[in-house]
Amino acid sequence: MGISDAGFSLRALVRARPKGHRLKRFKMRINDPELMAAIADLGVEHRVGVSLAQKTSLEIGGTSDLLVIHKHEVLPPLIQLLKQTGTPHRFLGGGSNVLLPDGELPWVILQLARQDPDVRIEGNNVYVDCAADLGRTVTTCAKHDLGGMEGLIGVPGSVGGALRMNAGAYGTQIGTFVREVQVYRAATGRIEILRGAEINFEYRHTSFAVDDIMLSVRLELPSKPYSEILQGIRICNEKRRASQPLNQKSAGCIFKNPPGGSAGRMIDELGLKGHSVGDARVSDRHANFFINAGHASQADMLALIADVRLRVRDRFGVELEEEVIVWKDR
Ligand code: EPU
Repeated sequence: MGISDAGFSLRALVRARPKGHRLKRFKMRINDPELMAAIADLGVEHRVGVSLAQKTSLEIGGTSDLLVIHKHEVLPPLIQLLKQTGTPHRFLGGGSNVLLPDGELPWVILQLARQDPDVRIEGNNVYVDCAADLGRTVTTCAKHDLGGMEGLIGVPGSVGGALRMNAGAYGTQIGTFVREVQVYRAATGRIEILRGAEINFEYRHTSFAVDDIMLSVRLELPSKPYSEILQGIRICNEKRRASQPLNQKSAGCIFKNPPGGSAGRMIDELGLKGHSVGDARVSDRHANFFINAGHASQADMLALIADVRLRVRDRFGVELEEEVIVWKDR
């Protein structure tokens, strides 16, 4: 199914309605036959009533319809369709740095399907699909004697999520290697290519708009022998295993480090390791990791975040800023 065919369906769907008439406002589920047909025409997979807890590393999140996008080109007409039909929607990446609400979610969720292959290498240039797993991308590059990203090896999630947040660890941040990003720009409703120099990469922050969607990236990596990269990967893995709760359900660090300080150290100094609200708990291993120790709800996690933030403010006079992205449904 081509884009032009899909465009025709969209136009037909919108034209079929009198001017000023909007489709019924869909809250959580897509059940209008015309909208379902238009989505199918775009080649977008519609999964009904998906548990999003299964799609996040915290394993917190309610239920919604999921639209799986197999071809990047259909994003502009799809989003246009959702807007024109008044269908609230959100984009979910790898789910490793997000805290979702419980119950029936008030949005339809969009997600990119993994491409095969998702990494293509030409010399020192690496073309990566944003749905690719970050860790596997690092090892694929290593096997081609391309290094530099060793520090990112244990960072969970997708390449797109890493890009958006400028993920970093052990002195490495992904932004350093970015030369070009193909992105769906919410402001224009179009897919655009941005050069690395046009993007601001700061500590856990980039200049992308919140509703931009990263699609693919060209990285430029330095040549390095595989054995040397492997050694770096082993060291980072070792450090991470020793200091972070890797086998527990978490979103990595909950707070950003304040300038010149360490959120984990401050929370630890307050004696808060093991402190909990419901099943949301400050990790015993790293105080800036909050884990879902059972069946934590978003409310549990938010209450724990608020409580710890208040205690840090009272003791250290520092206002911690969340690193985890919180989706609020009210
Ligand atoms: N510390 C404690 N107690 C703790 C945790 C840490 O005293 O419970 C102390 C450590 O001993 C160390 C200092 O705090 O002296 C910093 O700790 P660490 O080296 O673990 O680094 P971090 O600043 O807590 C950052 C990133 C991590 C990244 C590591 C390794 C942030 C918010 N966190 O953690 O990234 O993996 O460095 O480079 O920038 C993430 O972004 O989700 C994340 C986990």
